[in-house]
Amino acid sequence: MSAFFWQREAADGAARAGTLHTAHGPVQTPTFMPVGTAGTVKAMTADAVRSTGAGIVLGNTYHLMLRPGAERVRALGGLHRFMDWPGPILTDSGGFQVMSLGALRKLDQDGVTFASHIDGSKHRLTPERSTEIQHALDATITMCFDECPALPASVETIAASMRLSMRWAARSREAFVPREGYAQFGIVQGGVEQELRAESVRALTGIGFEGYAVGGLAVGEGQALMFSTLDTTVPLLPGDKPRYLMGVGTPDDLLGGVQRGIDMFDCVMPTRAGRTARAYTAFGTLNLRNARHAGDTRPIQDGCPCPACTRHTRAYLHHLFRADEILGPMLLTWHNLTYYQSLMRGIRTAITESRLEAHAAELRAAWAGGDP
Ligand code: GUN
Ligand code: ZN
Repeated sequence: MSAFFWQREAADGAARAGTLHTAHGPVQTPTFMPVGTAGTVKAMTADAVRSTGAGIVLGNTYHLMLRPGAERVRALGGLHRFMDWPGPILTDSGGFQVMSLGALRKLDQDGVTFASHIDGSKHRLTPERSTEIQHALDATITMCFDECPALPASVETIAASMRLSMRWAARSREAFVPREGYAQFGIVQGGVEQELRAESVRALTGIGFEGYAVGGLAVGEGQALMFSTLDTTVPLLPGDKPRYLMGVGTPDDLLGGVQRGIDMFDCVMPTRAGRTARAYTAFGTLNLRNARHAGDTRPIQDGCPCPACTRHTRAYLHHLFRADEILGPMLLTWHNLTYYQSLMRGIRTAITESRLEAHAAELRAAWAGGDP
């Protein structure tokens, strides 16, 4: 077993290409992590997820602690074995999900008490318990327990929340049990306030983590503010550590994130869209429920290696969604994840060949061009 580290292999402007070395194998960056919230990337077998080119998946402390329970997953051999994903797994720490899903919740300096969205039962998360749960799950990358305020909020509210998250980051680090090839990432908060973001980066780098995430974005501020926040925040982060933009985003968000120095992303978009008939393609999005696809014998996207495209027509996908057949979400999730992985691979290649700007212009023109 070797150490956890990120190796830079190429750079083009602020963008970087590299490899994340972990206890569960290497991951080429920039990378998109499919979301496997409850121990499954919805509608996909683990083999299917692998076949899309994904190298690392995300799991959620919040969902797994409620069902089936962290200690149950530990007893069953950890999340890798439980979900048949031997590769790296990053787990989110739960605070963000408590805020977005938890019904009743009470925040104090020590942690947060909340009611389960499943049965209303009462639970508590603290930095110590969140870290312990992520260890029980055997997460390759453990995230700090943080709080993400809903935007818009006053500067005072954002500052107090960020400072609480930084105290929780120190406690998360204390609770983290280092193991060869495993990592813990800090999470930068501070809304869209440049000074608060800088203060948050100073606090986290002072503690010292194996990687740094930018949190508290894509929460309603819009792409322009998200990008300008990245423009001022990312250059403050250590250049030799991986950087992860949490909960982002559309293909255009990923491209813009990479161009600003981000290495890792996760988002429910490709999987959720796949379950609601929306296809992501090189020429923008398609809604396969739309009547215009009813007799269309073309694949979703010419040249896509996924089974939805190599074996089926748009007309068949349209029929599956109209008939509420389970295969529709399965095939379209497969396609969308395949598109996201091919997008990241293309961006990575462009970085290594020092032609990211031209590649970005081509991608954006094709997205805007629509269905050929
Ligand atoms: N997912 C998306 N944004 C965030 C965030 O700010 N914190 C955490 N923990 N998870 C997130
Ligand atoms: Zn496809």
